[in-house]
Amino acid sequence: MKHSQTGVYDLSRPFRETGGSIHILAIESSCDETSASVCRDGNILSNITANQTVHEKYGGVVPELASRAHIQNIIPVVATALSSANCELSSMDAIAFTQSPGLIGSLLVGSQFAKSLALALNKPLIAVHHMQAHVLANLIDDPKPAFPFLCLTVSGGHTQIVLCISPTKMKVIGETIDDAAGEAFDKSAKLLGLPYPGGPLIDKYAQHGNPNRFHFPEPQLPALNFSFSGLKTSILYFLQNAGKSHVYKEENVASEEDRKRFIEENLADLCASIQQRIVSILINKLKKAVVQTGINDVCIAGGVSANSGLRSSLQEAGKKYPWNTFIPAFEYCTDNAAMIGITAYYKFLEKDFADLSITASARARHGLR
Ligand code: KG4
Ligand code: ZN
Repeated sequence: MKHSQTGVYDLSRPFRETGGSIHILAIESSCDETSASVCRDGNILSNITANQTVHEKYGGVVPELASRAHIQNIIPVVATALSSANCELSSMDAIAFTQSPGLIGSLLVGSQFAKSLALALNKPLIAVHHMQAHVLANLIDDPKPAFPFLCLTVSGGHTQIVLCISPTKMKVIGETIDDAAGEAFDKSAKLLGLPYPGGPLIDKYAQHGNPNRFHFPEPQLPALNFSFSGLKTSILYFLQNAGKSHVYKEENVASEEDRKRFIEENLADLCASIQQRIVSILINKLKKAVVQTGINDVCIAGGVSANSGLRSSLQEAGKKYPWNTFIPAFEYCTDNAAMIGITAYYKFLEKDFADLSITASARARHGLR
């Protein structure tokens, strides 16, 4: 599939058409980050995020605890976002929120809060799709990709290659058939005995390790789809025998002690090897997508786009191939309200407002899922 340049979306157009200032208060609460942002004419004035540490000891996000923490955090986070932007609530032109997908209890806190504000202030309400927002995080800072562009969106729940025709028109052309890339990081980290979320920790230890020391297989999946569940299994089997000098037979499994010692002594190399494999799976599919579509503007987005191995591999690919590569700033990679604000800005320009009867949804029924 080749894309002609006719009908290409010009980012400079909306600014010229509107003329005045549009202030949007945006709220993100889909998982375990409570975030609020003020966006003026597509520029982010503030982006305040409260992380929830309460989940660490459980090895994953506990939905009920996440909802409670959102309730505690949302008022101070919104107040700080407004004060750091030097704005009054009454000067907002619209209230935006993440409507789907995510944890339903978490989404409900942000959506009910946004709806109440919109009703009380008599301002339009804008419902935002979390995955669309991750992609549009690439439109926050300069330089921005030109439409149409490709975006590899890699988060804790999603792994997608998205073809972006305009800020509001996107198509998923490849996705995971099982685990997401973030899950692959987190589950691998758990096998190494690292706390949740393990992705950033694998990234940290990998920086001092040899990525070629251990070999984990790359799945051969057709088209642009991904699979990460096999990687987790191969790490699990590998660790069952780790620490033994001769490991040919299944009955020769390492003891818990052997395994722990082996992981401790080889943590950096293990993390570097696992990270290299996850990154190569992602980058190889992206190469395939570029060849298939003929599109050379390539972005990454989502929590895993904070990974230093993925960021440097994309930059290297940008030097090796005729790609223009784009990576959001760190604070716009993991869940944040600035990406909700920028998405809401483009929806505002299209007058795509939501009715107060709209409800949050754990699974999106359309588009990017
Ligand atoms: O986009 P995100 O903040 O939340 C979801 O929408 O899921 O992504 C969270 C995921 C987690 O799996 C986390 O481990 C992963 O992003 N992550 C990383 C890094 N920072 C966050 N994975 C690898 N390296 C990182 N530096
Ligand atoms: Zn996310």
